[in-house]
Formats: sequence, structure tokens, C-alpha cells
Amino acid sequence: MDYSTEKIREYINAREQAAGRPMLACVRTFGCQMNAHDSEKLEAMLIDMGYKLIDDERRADLAIINTCCVRGNAENKLYGHLGIMKGVKSANPEMKLAVCGCMAQANGAAEAIMRNYRHVDVIFGTFNLHRFPELLLSAIESGGQAIDIWEGPDGTDLPAPGHRHFEKKASVNIMYGCDNFCSYCIVPYVRGRERSRPAADILDEVRRAAGGGAAEVMLLGQNVNSYGQSGRFTGGGVHEKPIGFAELLNKVCDIDGVRRIRFMTSHPKDLSDELIETVRIQPKVCKHVHLPVQSGSSRILGLMNRQYNKEGYLTLAKRLKERVPGIALTTDIIVGFPGETEADFEETLDLARQVRFSGVFTFIYSKRPGTPAAVLDDPAAPGEIKRRFDRLLSVVNPIILEENKKHIGRTLSVLAEGASAADPALLTGRADDNSLVHFAADPSAVGQFIDVNITGCKTFYLIGEEAK
Ligand code: SAH
Ligand code: SF4
Ligand code: F3S
Repeated sequence: MDYSTEKIREYINAREQAAGRPMLACVRTFGCQMNAHDSEKLEAMLIDMGYKLIDDERRADLAIINTCCVRGNAENKLYGHLGIMKGVKSANPEMKLAVCGCMAQANGAAEAIMRNYRHVDVIFGTFNLHRFPELLLSAIESGGQAIDIWEGPDGTDLPAPGHRHFEKKASVNIMYGCDNFCSYCIVPYVRGRERSRPAADILDEVRRAAGGGAAEVMLLGQNVNSYGQSGRFTGGGVHEKPIGFAELLNKVCDIDGVRRIRFMTSHPKDLSDELIETVRIQPKVCKHVHLPVQSGSSRILGLMNRQYNKEGYLTLAKRLKERVPGIALTTDIIVGFPGETEADFEETLDLARQVRFSGVFTFIYSKRPGTPAAVLDDPAAPGEIKRRFDRLLSVVNPIILEENKKHIGRTLSVLAEGASAADPALLTGRADDNSLVHFAADPSAVGQFIDVNITGCKTFYLIGEEAK
């Protein structure tokens, strides 16, 4: 255990004695799976320090807000939250409040948060997560604010957290950062240059997760298809024989105990035939690819710097569906990119109708200062963009429902994750193709793969019961 964690442990012990109760900590996460996984790492550190984890930051002695800045509304959530936390902190003055993640990393944001929100005690970015114990200790000892934002990574790679949100599912970073610079996107600026983890480190982490009970592994990267290609690796070492993503996936399949393997996100420009073949033949690799298209207009895709066009995406989607029967494709679509015309938008609708996605995350374009798209003119009116957004939903949602209906009468293997939020009498989990399933089963099934007879569906989930 490092010096800072040790010292915080002593402080926690003393406070527990004085208060006659455990010291409580909560991590609130915004954003993507990268951030959720970073939160698991932070939570593992908090457990080492002696905190007990809870879900409610209003009762916490230490709250960490792990932020996202991919769209403006993600940022607004932080400000709303900081407002709430001000009241909470005045009721518990000993409480510590930390802010980290992508928004903290964005240009100048950390200084502004520190100045405008004096009740924030600690602030750090995406490159120095591992220094959190040191910063927290400094804030505890000084009683003042501790801020530290780095320009880039120092090569440190945090070991796999022993703590997981759901013990059966392990997220494993295979790479960090992004080099694609899609013109609308802030991620390359707040997560830095793309660097892959050495395959040996990844495989070791998967083996340990499997040994610790994980049955499903999610391999994480902003663009997993370019794994190993940038020539940059964590730890700074030179790697004699870098392997590609398909080969890495094959090696993960060889690990005993792992029953399902997922990965995200795939960039269409780098999705290889070798990868399609791996998804086709490896039974452990889930038959689902999240393949963000962003737009169906080749002109807009060019302006977005996506490096593929409409035809290229359609060809790829067709190849995936032909070669891997039953594969589910999901996507991300941005509506209202600067200069998007009615004709461009029609291309997006046409592509969505042709591909027939099983799930679509739809976003209204949000201007991110510092990105190339931020300086482009945008003639479309907000009302028009909102109408397009609604039209897009009215096209994609009925297709999702039709795709879901195909599952009725089938038996799917579902990893039961817990009680369904909508109906606590049901369990909830995901099938191999990532379909969300709510089903009747004994509560003791949580954590197991259950064969579920699908009896019905809605747009966003399937309904079923445990097969007897
Ligand atoms: N690396 C992943 C996506 C990361 S961000 C990829 O390339 O697919 C997740 C999604 O947020 C993106 O796919 C995109 O659809 C959306 N997004 C990113 N920047 C955005 C912006 N400025 N406005 C609206 N949506 C955005
Ligand atoms: Fe952003 Fe594009 Fe990188 Fe995805 S690939 S994180 S959308 S820059
Ligand atoms: Fe993810 Fe948001 Fe950061 S989408 S990488 S948490 S900006």
C-alpha cells in the first residue's frame, strides 16, 4: 500500500472511532464505459483507504464526480450536481468533494471549477487517476483545495481493480486515448494520443478477472480495431511484436473461465475481415458489434473526418450480417452536424432503413470548443434539428421493435444481473447479441447464465421466462 493510502487509512480510522460509524464514499459517474471503468478503479482505491462504498452522495463523507464533456448537456449535469453538493457539504463540513474525468481535463475547466466552486476540495484529470490518493491526502492535511491536471500520461498503467460493479462482468482497457480526431469530438483532447496496452498485460488482467469470478469480459477502447497499430504502448516500452485486435481477441478466447467476450467501440474504417472471421468462428465472442456510423451522408462524413463514406459503411454492415448470421449491429448517430441539409439527413434515414440496427444512440450535435467543427457555420435552425431528431427516432424505433420480435419463441442464454428496475419481480440481463431481457426466474439466478424463453418484447427490451 502506498504512503498516501496508508495515511488516509489512519485518518479514516480515527474519524470512524470519533463518529462511531463507517466512513462512506460515493463515486458518481457520467459518460461512457471508459469512465465507468475508471470509476471502478477509483472505488477500488477508496476501499483500500477504508471507506465503505454507498450509492448516495448526499450521505457520503467523500464524493467523487467523474465527469464527461462529450456534449454540452453532460457538462451541465456537473454544474447541477455541484450546486446540490454545496448544500450537502454545508450540512457535513468535514465532507470532501472531488471532481475528475474528461471535463476536468478540458482546457481551463479545472481552474474555473476551483475558482467558482470553492466547496470542491480535489480536482484531477484523466492522466493522473493513480495520483488520487496523494491529492486527497494533501486536501485532508491542508484543509485547502488540491488541483493537479497533467498534459499527458506518464506511462503508469493502474493495475486491474479488484472491485467490479458486477462481479461477473469485467471491463478491461486494451487501449487509451484516440488519434482519429473526428471533427466534432473532444475525446482526443481530453484522453490524449492513442496508446495500447501490451497484450501480456491485458491477458494477465483477463486471467485474474476470470480467476476472480468474471464470466463476461468487455474489452474497452475508443477504437478497438486499431489496437496495437499506433506503435505507442503504455509503460513506454518498445514492443517487439505487436499483435492486432483480431489476434488479441483470439488469445482472450483461450482463457478458461471466460464465457463471453464483448468489445467496444469499433470504428468502421478499421474493421478488418480478420475480425469478422473471429466474431464468426469464436463461440465466446458475442454476436454484436457497436459500429457508430454518425451520419448516412458521405458529404457530412467527410466533414466529420470519419474516413469512410455511406457506401463503405453499407458494404461493411452487409458483410457482417452475411458472414455472421444473427449478428446485432448497433450504432451512434449525430443529427444536426453543421451544414447538414435535408438531403444529407435523408441519407441518414436511408442508411438506417437499409442496415436495420438493433439499437441506436441518437445525439443532437453539440458544439465542443476547440474542435475543428466548432468554427463551421451552421445554417440549420434548432427547431429544424429537433424535428429531424424526432423523425430519426420514428424511423429507427419501429425497426428495432421488428428486430426484437424476431426473438419471440426463441430461447436465449441471458447473464442475470439483478432485479429489473421497472419490475422488481423480474430479473434483468443481456443475451449474447446484447438484447436487454426482463424475465421471470428465481432471484438465486443472479450471476448465472439462464436459458430464457422469449415470450414478448417492447422497443427497448425482450420479455421472457426461465426455461424449465
Ligand atoms: N470512440 C467512439 C465514440 C465515443 S463518443 C466512436 O468513435 O465511435 C460516443 C458518441 O458520442 C459518438 O459516437 C458520437 O455519436 C457522440 N458524440 C461525440 N461528440 C459529439 C458531439 N460534439 N455532439 C454530439 N454527439 C457527439
Ligand atoms: Fe471521438 Fe472519433 Fe475518437 Fe470516437 S473515434 S473518440 S468519435 S474522435
Ligand atoms: Fe467518455 Fe465522455 Fe470522456 S464519452 S471518454 S467520459 S468525454
